[in-house]
Amino acid sequence: MNGVFAMNQAMGLESMLRALTERHGRQAPVHDQAYGLSGSAPRKRCRAIAVAGGKGGVGKTTVSVNLGMALAMDGHKVILLDADMSLANIDVLLGLTPTRHIGHLLDGSCSIDDLLMSAPHGLKVVPAGSGTRRLAQLGAGEHAAVIRAFDDLVTPPDYLVVDTAAGLSDNVAMFAAAADDVVVVVCDEPASLTDAYALLKVLSRDFGVRRFRMVANMVRNVGEARQLHQKLARVCDRFLDVALEFMGQVPQDERLRQAIRRQSAVVDLWPSSRSGLAFKQLAGAVDTWGEPERLGLDRIAFFSRQAAVATGW
Ligand SMILES: Nc1ncnc2c1ncn2[C@@H]1O[C@H](COP(=O)(O)OP(=O)(O)O)[C@@H](O)[C@H]1O
Ligand SMILES: [Mg+2]
Repeated sequence: MNGVFAMNQAMGLESMLRALTERHGRQAPVHDQAYGLSGSAPRKRCRAIAVAGGKGGVGKTTVSVNLGMALAMDGHKVILLDADMSLANIDVLLGLTPTRHIGHLLDGSCSIDDLLMSAPHGLKVVPAGSGTRRLAQLGAGEHAAVIRAFDDLVTPPDYLVVDTAAGLSDNVAMFAAAADDVVVVVCDEPASLTDAYALLKVLSRDFGVRRFRMVANMVRNVGEARQLHQKLARVCDRFLDVALEFMGQVPQDERLRQAIRRQSAVVDLWPSSRSGLAFKQLAGAVDTWGEPERLGLDRIAFFSRQAAVATGW
């Protein structure tokens, strides 16, 4: 389905989404009240960071889990959303056993807060629910409902990290375009570069995303990571109207695989390993980012209600 068409269709379903929210009988979320009425200095707005990459197996989930955990270890409130509805595996990676997932949110049997699961260092996880055919084939309205549901969180996080699926489906595009920042994970394989390029093209052309940040994964050193970035940045400069910043690198590390086998994040289990240190650096980089670009309040975005209140919209 064409991306723009999907967005329009999703916006047409606005009333359905409102009904979904109203079914839970929720009042205006506490954070809206705090933003709009308290008169105190507004807290920094929640920042949604989507982790994408186009190709499968490049390390999107690994980066999402460890970046989320590293940010939590730095004292931030972090929620990790598993938005890979077909092959959800964040729960497996972190040794969690979810009893509810996004499907329950969509059928109205629970709220977004009911879905939050606790991982180490206060990290919270929203599991996707693996192997459910229906979830792998969500429509645009349902994607939008998941995105909007984050407005209802009783306590919004500082960061929402969104792990997206492989490929260029509307599922991936909508979650990435709804975030404030898109981190593209790339490794030194031709297919990874071409798939990342295709993703950037779709997100910029159909969804107006203009700025991306690249993480080079499974590299040998920083030099190799920078080279990889230059390769992709060069074609982007030439053919696309986007900026691709270098965010950092994660080395190929056996410790990381061992951590996965132990169903833990390497940054938690072995924070001083090469990959553990790299993830801490990535989290440090996030802390230095300036205010996110806003793409207009009429688009489907995470925490858009907060943005609306903050800007007096
Ligand atoms: N930096 C790394 N060092 C070693 N192995 C890695 C690294 N990053 C990812 N991997 C391996 O690649 C596999 C696929 O990573 P994953 O994050 O699931 O990819 P994706 O989410 O993009 O499909 C992991 O199970 C892990 O074994
Ligand atoms: Mg994955």
